[in-house]
Amino acid sequence: MSPLPIVVLISGTGSNLQAIIDAIAAKKINAEIRAVISNKPGVAGLQRARDAGIATHVIEHKQYPDRNAFDAALRDCIDQYQPQLVVLAGFMRILGDGFVQHYPGRMLNIHPSLLPEFPGLDTHRRVLAAGHTQHGASVHFVTPELDGGPLLVQAVIPVQANDTAESLQQKVHQQEHIIYPLAIGWIAEGRVQYENNRIFFDGKPLEKPVQIPACNAY
Ligand code: GAR
Repeated sequence: MSPLPIVVLISGTGSNLQAIIDAIAAKKINAEIRAVISNKPGVAGLQRARDAGIATHVIEHKQYPDRNAFDAALRDCIDQYQPQLVVLAGFMRILGDGFVQHYPGRMLNIHPSLLPEFPGLDTHRRVLAAGHTQHGASVHFVTPELDGGPLLVQAVIPVQANDTAESLQQKVHQQEHIIYPLAIGWIAEGRVQYENNRIFFDGKPLEKPVQIPACNAY
């Protein structure tokens, strides 16, 4: 099978991007990152992409009069690379419905919580404030509902008594670096299909996300 062509969108550090680059280099996933696009200039993720020899673009939302104009520029930039999958990896802009509907079943996001719990920002602090004993990360298909699309895979970690927002962020990040390449690998292998807002995994409807217990990596 030829490698799955992907375009990755970032806004910052790009540690998830790095995990995907590394998994491709190690031949753990059969994919090819054709471009990395950031809506912020000068972020570390752009350097990671350049270091890996990947084409980069900056499309600054501030330079566009409104969301539609930004979305159109972003879409044109992505589409010149003809990706089969668009990967949001810490991309912190809300995308318009028209943009999302342009990539039905072809756009993935990673979010630092066990969705549908804690959509939005500041998830680690909110998990602690709510006194939850479990936390984690989710990979989902993107639909117009913010952080609301069908869930493919989640990593679950225990929340310990001495955890802080910072320690949770670190632990969740480590798990993200495992489940995002895993999810992209499944798609590259043709194991995941998406139809009418539903995920099929190995030919069967996925009733709930695949849940991976925390790896003992920390
Ligand atoms: C990740 O924790 C990702 O889950 C989160 O941003 C971080 C990006 O880190 N995304 C969101 O909150 C999207 N709602 P990275 O730039 O090091 O990959």
